[in-house]
Amino acid sequence: MEKYVIEGGRPLCGAVHVQSAKNAVLPLLAAAVLTEEKVVIRRCPRIGDVLGMAQILGELGCRTAWEGDSLVIDGADAANHEIPAALARELRSSVFMLGPVAARFGRARIAYPGGCDIGLRPIDLHLEGLRRLGVSVAEEGGYITCSCGRVRGAEVVLDCPSVGATENIMLAAATGEGTTLIRNAAREPEIADLQNFLNRMGGKVKGAGGSVIAVEGVKKLHGAEYTPMPDRIEAGTFLIAAAMCGGELEVVGADADNLSSLLHKLRQISCKIHAFDDKIYIAGGKRRLSPKLVETSPYPGFPTDLQAQMTALACVCGGSTVVVENLFETRFKHVPELIRMGADITVRGRSAFIRGVPRLHGADVCAGDLRGGAALTLAAVSAEGESTVTDLRFIDRGYCGLEEKLAAAGARIRRIRV
Ligand code: EPZ
Repeated sequence: MEKYVIEGGRPLCGAVHVQSAKNAVLPLLAAAVLTEEKVVIRRCPRIGDVLGMAQILGELGCRTAWEGDSLVIDGADAANHEIPAALARELRSSVFMLGPVAARFGRARIAYPGGCDIGLRPIDLHLEGLRRLGVSVAEEGGYITCSCGRVRGAEVVLDCPSVGATENIMLAAATGEGTTLIRNAAREPEIADLQNFLNRMGGKVKGAGGSVIAVEGVKKLHGAEYTPMPDRIEAGTFLIAAAMCGGELEVVGADADNLSSLLHKLRQISCKIHAFDDKIYIAGGKRRLSPKLVETSPYPGFPTDLQAQMTALACVCGGSTVVVENLFETRFKHVPELIRMGADITVRGRSAFIRGVPRLHGADVCAGDLRGGAALTLAAVSAEGESTVTDLRFIDRGYCGLEEKLAAAGARIRRIRV
């Protein structure tokens, strides 16, 4: 087991470089199953979820290898259609292997996916979408078994703009017969990255970023090399860190266009923000106004993956804030831990009512999920005194070198083995 030991209370200054987006890389790795040729994902972050997906690809018979910071996948000999339960339970993103594995092999078998425990996380839209594409889907004993001839194009209407379901259907349809229309598709930027990658492989996908995506099935996809988009959630995490700790930070490799809802909130609480080229500069300022209301919603609304970090920031803003988590049922695990640091928060259902305090104080806290762990780390870096953050395996699922980047910006943070 490892933990962070943090001596908080210092401003952040300098520059941090953003990794490639976890939630873009994971569907790209699933897409690699669709071709027998080599796929190269450049600037691939060595984070837990990516290593987990690489292990799943290995179980399917793909060869994976790191070449510097590129992950190379060779699917020529892939032949297994079953993903071991232990791996599937570990990773939510295992579920969007169903589409490409069924499309490639005519069969797929997977245990119900796991991942961060932030809510019920149903997969009904994934399965309904695959059935619309002519895939027969059986659910028994905690397993999902798919079988199909060649996937056939169809119109799929999603009840809610699910990111994973949109990606699963795109992946299944890419080599299907005919055209698939996905209506009420998720509009997250990572979907556009998947579209770009599939088209680089010879696919014919358009409309990503909007709510209707058209996938014209092609007979075969060839190998490709690709550099994924920057991680907007990691960039947002560092911007919130600077807002909490004060100081001046330059977040390099960030795309301000896909962070507009966060930048709007940070400007509202009197942070100075300048975005130019692939950099976002923030001056955290001292006296911060309260954000008043933060409601998570599908893109381009405020991202649920920045809710925990924003909740931590609201704890040290003047005045009161209401944070409403509309996407996941239990995404407030960080709240009891923030209260141990002196935060004043009351949770009722999907809403957290926060009264700002001048400062948080150090405490021993425990991460309960990926983004909650990041939020607790930011809180500890901004708090007065010493804190520890345990259960770093959650943070390691999605952040590559979080402590190194914070330390390079002036935070007193180190990882120790206990
Ligand atoms: C993706 O999860 C991300 N994960 C999540 O990031 C992110 O929080 C989420 O999208 C929302 O933006 C990856 O991309 C690997 P959804 P996903 O399907 O696809 C309901 C992180 O921290 N729903 O868009 O699982 C569901 O209950 C992670 O990086 C159904 O009802 O999210 C939820 O309320 C956490 N039926 C809403 O849709 C379904 O079949 C959004 O879920 C699927 C989803």
